[in-house]
Amino acid sequence: MTAPAALRALRGRLLWFVDDPWAVGAAAHRFIEDGLLLIENGLVRAAGEAKSLLPTLPATAEIVDHRPHLIMPGFIDAHIHMPQTQVVASYGAQLMDWLNRYTFVEEQKLGEQGHAEKLSAFFLDELVANGTTTAAVYCSVHPQSADAFFTESQRRNTRMIAGKVMMDRNAPDALRDTAESGYRDSKALIARWHGKGRQLYAITPRFAITSTPEQLAAAGRLAAEHPGCHVQTHIDENRAEIAFARELYPESADYADIYRRFGLLGPRSLMGHCIHMTHNEWQAFAETGAVAVFCPTSNFFLGSGLFDWAHARQRGIRVAVATDIGGGTSYSMLRTMAEAYKVLQLQGQSLSAYAALHAITLGNAEALGLDHLIGSFEPGREADVVVLDTGATRAMAHRLETVRDLAEELFVLVTLGDDRNVLATYVMGARVVLPR
Ligand code: GUN
Ligand code: ZN
Repeated sequence: MTAPAALRALRGRLLWFVDDPWAVGAAAHRFIEDGLLLIENGLVRAAGEAKSLLPTLPATAEIVDHRPHLIMPGFIDAHIHMPQTQVVASYGAQLMDWLNRYTFVEEQKLGEQGHAEKLSAFFLDELVANGTTTAAVYCSVHPQSADAFFTESQRRNTRMIAGKVMMDRNAPDALRDTAESGYRDSKALIARWHGKGRQLYAITPRFAITSTPEQLAAAGRLAAEHPGCHVQTHIDENRAEIAFARELYPESADYADIYRRFGLLGPRSLMGHCIHMTHNEWQAFAETGAVAVFCPTSNFFLGSGLFDWAHARQRGIRVAVATDIGGGTSYSMLRTMAEAYKVLQLQGQSLSAYAALHAITLGNAEALGLDHLIGSFEPGREADVVVLDTGATRAMAHRLETVRDLAEELFVLVTLGDDRNVLATYVMGARVVLPR
């Protein structure tokens, strides 16, 4: 990472969102063909026309010329598993089988000295290589995995939300905590990391299947004691999973009701998958403000099903989008949105390039309750930035010869794009050296 000059200006084609394209159409985005993003002490000072801002700059300002490339707020991934970087692309299983055959095997290795450090460094490198500057991250059950992750993120000054997974049943011995130790270790991690620099804590009961009622109660207690923390978990991903969860919690009306009873459904709850939701479950989300997290590459790869975004929108439920590595198959939020488009196509729904790019920037920032800090170029926001070359590959450059306007160009970017399009990533105004 290079140290940021006190005043730095990035010149290029600026694109960011101030509202939701679904709600207000073209008024939702700002696009400046020859724009300047002024960054002071890591924060956005202004975003505007280069010709009007350039004359106002002092001679000491550093100007980085990224023309003709696109400059956007850094991407945000709302659900990803740090311990699963070596689980990606594991063959031939659906959720429960995939967890037992591959995931729980790899996650045990995080108990070994140095492994969580190695994976965290790889993981954070891979995120910035894909233009992702913030993520909501699951660590393993080992509290030291969360310490290792936060230490590495703190060193890089990235804004990350993360938590130690809590699980005290239906997992190998080496991956089980207890209701009591899960509570105690999570609480200590919150004290050590939540609000330290840019780090935020998420209380992380993996899912109802791997927690006893005592542990979900302990997680609910933590959420009540730390209302500034997120809660993240999984729900309604797979039919066998749902049947098992219902069997384990017969007193609950449905899967969402399990979490609701334990105080785990609220506006900071990030609920992974939400594929096989009933009317009453969506209703519980609408009433509590819980966020549905859509993970398209994972839902295809694990054969889980199709997320109904239009239904969530109609009911006023916030939706976030995410890779879900290692059930998901790409670290790229562009690739994720290309697959989201296909999920919606299969249901007769659509997704414009503007809606897709809004989702991975301001939309996810709002879903995470962090839009006052990240996700746009409004003055005062943290200057996390991605610079994109829309014609980075031969096939993309060739296709761009025929596009007629910005919307078409952006649709090519969203449909064919990935880490090859990321020219540069900035974290709090500092350019990151991308691993290649
Ligand atoms: N449900 C519980 N744990 C997991 C996980 O690690 N990945 C996915 N996709 N679903 C889960
Ligand atoms: Zn997941």
